[in-house]
Amino acid sequence: MYYGELVCLRALRESDIGSMLLHWNTWELRHTIGAPLPRSRAAMEEWFVRTSKTDPWKDDEITLAITEKRSGEFLGVATLRAIRSPHNRGRIGISIYDSENRSKGYGTDATRVVLWIAFHILGLHSISLDTFPDNERAVRTYESCGFKRVGLLRKTEFMAGQHHDLLVMDILREEFMQEYPPGAFVEQSIDTS
Ligand SMILES: CC(C)(COP(=O)(O)OP(=O)(O)OC[C@H]1O[C@@H](n2cnc3c(N)ncnc32)[C@H](O)[C@@H]1OP(=O)(O)O)[C@@H](O)C(=O)NCCC(=O)NCCS
Repeated sequence: MYYGELVCLRALRESDIGSMLLHWNTWELRHTIGAPLPRSRAAMEEWFVRTSKTDPWKDDEITLAITEKRSGEFLGVATLRAIRSPHNRGRIGISIYDSENRSKGYGTDATRVVLWIAFHILGLHSISLDTFPDNERAVRTYESCGFKRVGLLRKTEFMAGQHHDLLVMDILREEFMQEYPPGAFVEQSIDTS
């Protein structure tokens, strides 16, 4: 497990499925991440079985549950994907599922912990993402973790009947390391679940 100030990132558990299903099946969450279709329980269970076993070195991907550090409440998921060697780059995705839990600092804290894992554990060199430019909370969250705006993919994402732009952001290892050198910020413990 990896701890930030407010969150813990741990392996996915079967008991997370109910909460994921409930919130995934709201347009309010899905439209912000460009996922147009709802998921059945069977599809979510299939996703869980595949995703909970991913190995960043073999499958180019790792997805962890974001939980509240003190209460253990499931908050959402954090993914590093498209991990590529020899480039040592990856892509990040963060979702806080329940709207009641947003804007409480969890997303920013979780993003920092994922970056810590990416740079300090996986040895990656560059992490990127894309997001809708009008997802101002997400843009602010990523900027406060050190991501920079690097470009705009024009009318690239088809969503709700229209093509939308996507803002591309990235952060380099050396930029993150200035603020979070080895040993800084993140506590670790063994996940015994
Ligand atoms: C985007 C997301 C991960 C951010 O996590 P969060 O826990 O809600 O955000 P935080 O509380 O850590 O930080 C939000 C920041 O945005 C700011 N913010 C909130 N609403 C805002 C708005 N409408 N416009 C501009 N900034 C806003 C907050 O003030 C805060 O910035 P600050 O720390 O400088 O004050 C979360 O809201 C989420 O999962 N949203 C749905 C899925 C999604 O959009 N994922 C990202 C797709 S790339």
